[in-house]
Amino acid sequence: MQTAFRTAHEQATARAVAGEVATAAHPRPEIYVAVHKGLRAAMGHVLATIGRTDPADPIELAAALADLRGLLALCSSHLAAENSHIHAAMEARRPDSAAHTADDHLDHEHAIARLEDAAREVEASHGALRADALLALYRRLALFVAENLVHMQVEETENNAVLWAEYSDAEIDAVHDAILASLAPEKKAAFMRWIIPSVNAAERAAMFSAMRRKAPPEAVDAMLALARRHLPERDWVKLMAAIAPA
Ligand SMILES: [Fe+2]
Repeated sequence: MQTAFRTAHEQATARAVAGEVATAAHPRPEIYVAVHKGLRAAMGHVLATIGRTDPADPIELAAALADLRGLLALCSSHLAAENSHIHAAMEARRPDSAAHTADDHLDHEHAIARLEDAAREVEASHGALRADALLALYRRLALFVAENLVHMQVEETENNAVLWAEYSDAEIDAVHDAILASLAPEKKAAFMRWIIPSVNAAERAAMFSAMRRKAPPEAVDAMLALARRHLPERDWVKLMAAIAPA
C-alpha cells in the first residue's frame, strides 16, 4: 500500500529532481549568492564606518560619505540589473512571480534617495547639529541594511525557487552572463572588490576558473590584481593553488 505521507527527505529529493530546490546531490545555479555576499559585506563595512566617524574631523567624514555613496551606487546598479534581467526572466515564464521583490526595489530606490539627502544634510550642518545629522544618517542606513538583509533572503529562497522551476541550469547561467556583459568594467570592478573577499575559497576558485574560460586575459589579470589587494594571504594562496595550471 502506498503511504500517504512521504518523508521530508523523499519530498525534498522529488522537488530537487523537479528543479525546485538545490541540494548537494542536485546543485542548481546560484545567481544571487556571490553578489549578495559582497553586498552584505559592503553594507556592514559602511554601516560600521559611518558609526565610528568623528563628525568633527572633515577628512574622516569626507572619506566615510564617499564610502556611503559608493555603496549606494552599487545598490542602485544591483537592483537595476535584477529588474531588467532576473525579474524579467521570472515574469516571462511565471507572471507576477517577481512582484514582491519588484515592490521592494521601488522602496529601495526611495530609501537610497533619502540616504543621499541625509548625507547632504550632514555636509551642510556644523558643530553639534552635524553630530546629530550623522547619527540620524547612521540610523537610517542601519534600517536600510536591515531591510536589504530580509530582501536578499527572499530573493535567495523564493525567487531562486521560481528560477529553478522555470529555467534550466544553462538558461540561468545565460541570465547571469547577460548581467555581467551589461556592466561597464569600472562597475564590475566595484562589485568584485567586495565579492572576491566575501565568498568562500571554493566559490572564489570556481568564479576565477569561469572567468578564465569566458573573459579576455587582461580582464582576468585586473580581477587577480583586485584579489591580491583585498584577499588575506591564506585566501590568496588557496586561490593560486586552485587555479594554477595542472
Ligand atoms: Fe534585489
